[in-house]
Order: sequence, then structure tokens, then C-alpha cells
Amino acid sequence: MNHREELTHRRKAAIGLGGPERVERQHRMGKLTARERVLALVDSGTWEELGAHVAPRSSDLGDAPGDGVVTGVGLVHGRTVYVYAQDFTVLGGSLGEMHAAKIQRVQDLALKSGAPIVGLNDSGGARIQEGVDALNGYGEIFKRNTHASGVVPQITCIMGPSAGGAVYSPALTDIVVMVRGTAQMFITGPQVIEAVTGERVSAEELGGADSQLRRSGVAHFATDDDAGALELIRELLGRLPSNNLEDPPVRTPADPEAVDLAGLVPDDPNKPYDIRMAIRGIFDHGSFLEFQQGYADNLVVGLAYLDGHPVGVVANQPRVLAGTLDINASDKLGRFVRFADAFNFPLVTLVDTPGYLPGTGQEYGGIIRHGAKVLYAYAEATVPKVTVICRKAYGGAYLAMCSRSLGADLAAAWPTAEIAVMGPEGAANIIYRRELQAADDPVAVKQKKVAEYRERFANPYVAAGRGYVDAVIFPEETRDFLVRSLQSLAGKRDGRPPKKHGNMPV
Ligand code: HXC
Repeated sequence: MNHREELTHRRKAAIGLGGPERVERQHRMGKLTARERVLALVDSGTWEELGAHVAPRSSDLGDAPGDGVVTGVGLVHGRTVYVYAQDFTVLGGSLGEMHAAKIQRVQDLALKSGAPIVGLNDSGGARIQEGVDALNGYGEIFKRNTHASGVVPQITCIMGPSAGGAVYSPALTDIVVMVRGTAQMFITGPQVIEAVTGERVSAEELGGADSQLRRSGVAHFATDDDAGALELIRELLGRLPSNNLEDPPVRTPADPEAVDLAGLVPDDPNKPYDIRMAIRGIFDHGSFLEFQQGYADNLVVGLAYLDGHPVGVVANQPRVLAGTLDINASDKLGRFVRFADAFNFPLVTLVDTPGYLPGTGQEYGGIIRHGAKVLYAYAEATVPKVTVICRKAYGGAYLAMCSRSLGADLAAAWPTAEIAVMGPEGAANIIYRRELQAADDPVAVKQKKVAEYRERFANPYVAAGRGYVDAVIFPEETRDFLVRSLQSLAGKRDGRPPKKHGNMPV
């Protein structure tokens, strides 16, 4: 074989992955191969593979093209992205020393060049034959995930098994996407669980996309197949900056949907409405990309465009648990606000919450420390922050939902806003207790007192009178208010005292 023939032969072997039978099995399982995945992810003709000739250190493992992982760099929407894709057709995509070294290599290059990294995971986990070298490989990857956090966007897509400690690399990244039916994440699988606890559960029920999206909040998105997941990742990358020193890209502005914002909030303060309608009526048409839909739906978070400018949106959802903040919503909010702040998305907060959710389950579960994340994340964020209070904003939750005192740069309220220490019912019970006890008809007296309280305190004008909200606006004026606010804040500079790092409550 001459030089040309040898390289051609070697390339062919690398492209063949684990051989036709295993490729066929991969397809039968409804999965694309690692190479098909990277080629679907990057812009056509831009893939540059790195480390295609890397092999396991031990020859005992036989032929293992690329050591079970395809790594390299390409463009997505014309911008550089580093990628690794585990190849289940070679040793089950299991992670050995050299496999791990290839992943670490693209992690290092991504961090050095200020470009996002995407991991496509499909692996049996630590390669059993390589023992502690495999474990060491994971440790090196986790360390790099952590060091890159908040510097370059990190997205992981789970497209097959992800078991044991292997789940922690995805968990350390910004966004986790899972494919329904083929992706499963768990620390210990169904057999171990049954042996230890007696519980019987299928792998999909335990760690499939819908479980990790809706029950645990580990995943941010679930898709029906590989192609859908890769398309979604392209969309996400198109919205994100390449690194923390860049702003996210702008888009062509679009008008919002025609939503009757003026008629959205019902007259009865106890009646719910869908905050997503407000989002649709305020931001550019079809631009809202919701994160973690299906998990803690009492809070809605996601990325949107406002007159072509990217923003992070956080909104209480009165339709679910009356929009209260509970443990899961607090976690969801804290994580999203820190993500948006790290990657320079200004934050728009729409408030309608009666408060933190009461209950022993919440208290014993640590609502105090979880709820504190909401305050911490908002107060820590230095991006422009604008808050609009649509209806209820009571007590601690008023403060937590990016109040002016916590750091909102500008705050407005709709005329329907109720900003006070607590809701009229609870307040009347406490401050008029003696009158209620002495009354012949306590029900009628209570109704009167509640109405009086609402009139006096549950409106936006007490807060506006103190300057805690900058403007009271009609709902239909919200988009213009936000556009002008964010324009005026575009040059915002904000700093925090130098420190090693904060100590966010967890
Ligand atoms: C070496 C592995 C492997 C592993 C799979 N293979 N997992 N080889 N180390 N961890 C190989 C299989 O031997 C097989 O090789 C090929 O990959 C495909 O695997 P199958 O079992 O045939 O596929 P399937 O039936 O689809 O089952 C996939 C699977 C199963 C569910 C992932 O293979 C499995 O349970 N593997 C072990 C999972 C595990 O416990 N990993 C360790 C987790 S702990 P041949 O040659 O027959 O095709 C961990 C610690 C990380 O990862 C710690 C970090 C801190």
C-alpha cells in the first residue's frame, strides 16, 4: 500500500464505525450513527474531524475505530462549534482512557477559542475493561465542564443510554436535550433499584426523556427523534452567543401576535389566565422558546426576541398552582436566570404570584433554601432587568420576582397589579381580627374589610407613590415600554465586589 492508499484505507475504516452489522442495529433502534449525527448538526461541508485515528491504548479491545467517539469542529449557522458524538457501534460507546482524552481535547479547544461545545451522548458508560483509567477520564471531563461553565455554552444531547456517573457531565452543562424512547439517564438502573429497594420500574419510566423533563427537571427539552433533537440544538446555538464576552445575535424584528392584552387579566382576582398569552402578545411572533416546559409549570421561562433583540423571559403562571413559587419553580428560575445572565440575555420578568407555596412538604423540602435561589440569582445578575407586575405581587414573592429593591433596573405595573405585604383575605383576618370577632355578622364584615383593604393597599399606586414601580402602564403598552426600557439600558454597566465566587444557597 502506498501512502495515499494507506490513508484512504484508514479513513474508510474510521467512517465505517463499528461495521455494517452494528450500524444496522443502531438504525433498527431508531438511532442515527455518531457520524450521521454530527453531519446533521453542522452546516453542510464544514465538518473537520479531529482524532479519527485515535485507538484504545490496549490492543486487547480489538478494532475500535476512533475509540468509540467522533470528535471535531464545524460551523452551525456559520459560527464555530466543537462537537463530540459517542459511537455506540464501537464498544457500546463506552468511555475509556483515549475516548475520554478525545472529549477533553475538544473541550479544551472550545474553551480556548471561545466557542460552544455540544456533546451527543450514546454510551454504556465507563469502559469496564479500562477500569480506573475510565473513571479518571470522566473526572477530567467533569472538571472541564465546570471550568467552562459560564464561559462557553455547553449543550448535551442524550441519544442513548447514560448511566451511573456518566450522567454528571450532562448535568454540569447548560442545556440537556433528550430523545424519547432511546435516551435514558439514571444513576442506578432498574435492576439495581429492584435489588436494593424492591421497586420495579422500566428504564424508560425511570430515566426516559419525559421522566427527566417532567418529574426531575434534569432535562430541558425532549424530542421525538434524533433529527428533531439536532434541529433543536441548531436553533439553540443560533440564539446563543459563542461565549460570555459576546452578546447573543439579533434577528429580524417581527410584530407580536394579536392578543387582547387589555382583556387578559380577569376582573375576579381569583380567576386564572394563561401567562403564555401575555408572552405571545408582547414578544416577536413565534419567537418564544420555552425551557423545561412540563416541569414546575407554575413558572414559565425561555428565550424570546423583542423587536429583534434577544431576551430571557421569566413569568409566573397563574393557571398552575395559582402561580405560587414552590421548590421546583425556584430551582427552575434560579438556574434560568443564571444561564441568561452568564450569556448576556437581558431579563424580562412578568409577575403574578400570590407568594411562596405553603405546606409541610415545602417547608421540610427546604423551600427556604430553594426559594433563596430566586433572590440570589436576580440580585447577582448584572444584565439589564425589567419587571412588569401584571397582577399579584405579595410579600416575599413580590421582592423575589425581580423587584426594584432586588435589582430590577426598571419596573412597571399594570392597573390590575396588587402590590402589598399579603393578600386581602389573609391581611383582613389579621389586622381586623378584633372587629371580626366582635361582629354579629362576621362574614359580611369580613367581605367589607377585604374590599376596603383591596381598595387601600391591593393596587399599584401605593408602590408607584413610593417610586418602587417606575410607571403604571396599560397592558397594551407593555411591548413599547419594554422596547424603550431595554434600548435605554443597552449600555448598562454593573459590577459586583471582587470575590472568588459566591455561595448560592442550594
Ligand atoms: C465495555 C460495554 C459497556 C461498558 C456496553 N458495552 N457497555 N463495553 N464497557 N460499560 C459493550 C457490550 O459489551 C457490547 O459489546 C456493546 O457494548 C453493546 O452493548 P449491548 O449490551 O449489546 O447493548 P444493549 O443491549 O443495547 O445494552 C446497552 C446497555 C448495556 C444498557 C448500555 O450494555 C449495559 O448495561 N452496559 C453496562 C452499563 C454500565 O453499567 N456501565 C457502567 C456505568 S457506571 P459487543 O462486543 O457484544 O457488541 C459508570 C461510572 C462512571 O459509567 C463514573 C463516573 C464518575
